[in-house]
Amino acid sequence: MKEQLEIIRREALAAMDEAADSQALEALRVKYLGKKGELTAVLKQMGKLSPEERPVMGQVANAVRADIEEKLEAVKAKLAAKALEAKLQAEAVDVTIPGVPVTHGHKHPMSIVLDECKDIFVEMGFEVVEGPEVELESYNFTKLNAEPGHPSRDWSDTFYITEDSSVLLRTQTSPMQVRVMEQRKPPIRIVAPGRVYRKDEVDATHSPMFHQMEGLVVDEGITMSDLKGCLEQMVKKLYGADSVVRFRPHHFPFTEPSCEMDVQCFECHGAGCRTCKGEGWIELLGAGMVHPKVLEYCNIDPEKYSGFAFGVGVERMTMRRFQISDLRLLFENDIRFLSQF
Ligand code: DAH
Repeated sequence: MKEQLEIIRREALAAMDEAADSQALEALRVKYLGKKGELTAVLKQMGKLSPEERPVMGQVANAVRADIEEKLEAVKAKLAAKALEAKLQAEAVDVTIPGVPVTHGHKHPMSIVLDECKDIFVEMGFEVVEGPEVELESYNFTKLNAEPGHPSRDWSDTFYITEDSSVLLRTQTSPMQVRVMEQRKPPIRIVAPGRVYRKDEVDATHSPMFHQMEGLVVDEGITMSDLKGCLEQMVKKLYGADSVVRFRPHHFPFTEPSCEMDVQCFECHGAGCRTCKGEGWIELLGAGMVHPKVLEYCNIDPEKYSGFAFGVGVERMTMRRFQISDLRLLFENDIRFLSQF
């Protein structure tokens, strides 16, 4: 029996030296020390020994068990250290690898131009206000002197929200004139940027959603020369001090007289080229003196007060400013395009 025990000790110790990982080691523990293990099997035969031999063999068996257990612990610790080392190797951070570059975003070209515009008018004492894109028909049309029957009210031009045409997506930022005049008394000096909607097919110069900025000044003694000075100042700040503008007569229901303002083509300085389609001038905005009827609708006495208003397309200003030929580029948001500005 003693030899059997010695064999077990030798084999077990040698096998444990070979164990590749903790699973293999556990299998060896079961094989030698488990309930059905080899050492247990030998111990079960103790009963056959004489009473004198039994304690002697018991001592040997205990020593063998102790040796195996000690070795188990030692190998276990060695394997754990090895596993930790491997894990650290696998997870090692190479601090010399270049980092992922952090790119800074920047403003959309439309926001660049709009922010510049706002700054220009704030500098001149205007306040920036905003209003609803879902608007009442009365604000969008009637109170702006566009009576029922006016062509701009047509179902094929306008996105109505209700069957009775009383609520719609605003077709212009001009209803902000009425909203402001109803709430405030002169002096009034505001600009109102925002989205507007019309039933237009998308092409290089049209979109069913686009942006305008409305301007309104109402006070005693406001004249057309205030309008001209103010808008000329805007153009010079936006497009350069040598910019030249001209005013042409036009018609809008809510202003009288009404005009459109053109800026002389920056490419050809009036000679005519591709940019201005041979005209020498580029149309920029609509404007005029607030119609006395509109002042009356808003309970402002047209005998005492007068005002001017203008509405400018933000896409158009942006396209002129950055020489962008297709409006769709502004909405597609292709980073390769936008990152140029
Ligand atoms: N609302 C006009 C449009 O969308 C633009 C406009 C013209 C606004 C003249 C004004 C104005 O305030 O006075 O075409």
